[in-house]
Amino acid sequence: MFCSTIRKRKLTTKKSDENEENQVKIAVSGKGGTGKTLVAGVLATFLAEKGFKVLAIDADPSPNLALTLGISPDEAKKIIPISENTQLIESKTKTSYPGVYRLSFSVDDIVKDFSVKSLYGVNLLVMGTVRSAGTGCLCPANAVVRALLQHLYVERDEAVVMDMEAGVEHLGRGTAKHVDAMLAVTDSSFKAMETAKKIYELSIEMGIKKLFLLGNKVADANEGMLIERFAKSNNISLLGLIPYDKQIIEADMRGKSPIEYARKSEGIEAIRQFGEKLIKQTT
Ligand SMILES: Nc1ncnc2c1ncn2[C@@H]1O[C@H](COP(=O)(O)OP(=O)(O)O)[C@@H](O)[C@H]1O
Ligand SMILES: [Mg+2]
Repeated sequence: MFCSTIRKRKLTTKKSDENEENQVKIAVSGKGGTGKTLVAGVLATFLAEKGFKVLAIDADPSPNLALTLGISPDEAKKIIPISENTQLIESKTKTSYPGVYRLSFSVDDIVKDFSVKSLYGVNLLVMGTVRSAGTGCLCPANAVVRALLQHLYVERDEAVVMDMEAGVEHLGRGTAKHVDAMLAVTDSSFKAMETAKKIYELSIEMGIKKLFLLGNKVADANEGMLIERFAKSNNISLLGLIPYDKQIIEADMRGKSPIEYARKSEGIEAIRQFGEKLIKQTT
């Protein structure tokens, strides 16, 4: 499809110093099934409990962060991902010329109009599919999502926790530079660690300042050792190891949020502790 643009969006790329302390900007990545959504949901809630104003972004093409955050399945079903909200996309980008769309539009109203608040005070925005910055895709939906991500990471005085696919390319360099910490979640499997390694390399290339590895579902000392060894040999800072936790599985089986169902469990408690560590290292 032929698309042309009428004007490039200009953005302020500097954070204002007085708001800096509210701006813990985190992205969580890793191979599917390693626990990204769990980590993102618990961290976002932890930050909200600490008094941060928090925005959680679900940027996985199969979004399910809402349930982890304690948003009911009925309410979660009603959420239309930003990239699939044709009415919104059109209102932002349509011009009177067919095939020509605008790239200069405001996105600051989107959070107010389209985010859903969780029981624990986290605002959730579901992005839908976010295409990679390098694919040259100029579709209107992508333009809105990219501008929105940039707004959330660069301009907004709010803590951000994003649950994303394995990979960081779709952030775009301008936005990636403002990610305070990329968390690569891995279990002890070879494939998950290889994915974490790719995330690490890409994050550096994209200009992300800090990357931490977070080991998850660690069932015994041997698994822990494998992850520690991997972190050491690749020079990646290991934020910590989250134990394999049956209560988290139980919460899942019952369709409950682990934050509610397994609040005091070892796994959830470990993520909170790593959240504390992360705040110290990034603010
Ligand atoms: N520490 C843990 N202990 C036990 N089960 C876990 C743990 N972390 C995640 N899980 C389970 O693993 C599955 C995948 O987790 P999820 O957060 O959805 O991964 P991802 O978002 O990376 O695909 C879920 O069923 C989740 O409940
Ligand atoms: Mg997930």
